[in-house]
Amino acid sequence: PWRETRDPYPIWISEVMLQQTQVTTVIPYYEKFLHLFPRIQDLANAPTEKVLSAWAGLGYYSRARNLHKAAKVISWKLQGEFPQEREALLQVPGIGPYTAGAVLSIAFDKPVPLVDGNVERVFSRLFAITDPIKDRAVQKQLWKYAEASVLLAESPRVFNQALMELGALVCTKGTPRCGNCPIQTFCQA
Ligand code: ADE
Repeated sequence: PWRETRDPYPIWISEVMLQQTQVTTVIPYYEKFLHLFPRIQDLANAPTEKVLSAWAGLGYYSRARNLHKAAKVISWKLQGEFPQEREALLQVPGIGPYTAGAVLSIAFDKPVPLVDGNVERVFSRLFAITDPIKDRAVQKQLWKYAEASVLLAESPRVFNQALMELGALVCTKGTPRCGNCPIQTFCQA
C-alpha cells in the first residue's frame, strides 16, 4: 500500500516498520497506524501511550518512540514540512542514512543512496566482496556503489526499490535464484 502514495509521511512510517519486520506483518499495522494518525500532526499530538499501543506487537519499541519524537520535531519546529535535503533530514531524531535515502528517493524521486541488508547482499555478490560485510571500509564502499548507481538511474524511486527487491526476492540468502536474475551476466559471484 505504501507504493500507492508519494507523501513522505506514510512512506517514512512504512520504511521504519519494514526495518525489522516483514511486509506481510507490516501491512495491517501500517493501515491501523495511518488510520489512527492520518497526518504527521496527529502523530505529534498523540499521547505516547496511544503511539506505543498502536505499535504493540511490532517489537523494537524504540522505533515507535523515535517516530513520535521526530513527528514532534517536524510538526512543531519545521512547520510540518518534511525536510527534502539529506543533511536536513539526518538532523531529525531517529532518521539515519537508510531512512533518509528511502524517504527522499521514494517520495521525491531524489538520487539519494540507500543500503539495507538486501542491498548489502546484492552488491557483495555482484562485486565479489569477501571482507566481512560490517567492516567500516566495506560499508563505505557499499554506500559508494549505492550512490554511484542511483545517480545513473532514470528514476531513483524505482531504482532503490528495485535494488532492495532484487535482494529480497531473487538474490536471496542461502540459494539465490540466479537463473531469474536480470543482472546475472554482470555478477562476479
Ligand atoms: N525494503 C524496505 N523498503 C522497501 C521498499 N520500499 N521496496 C523494496 N524493498 C524494501
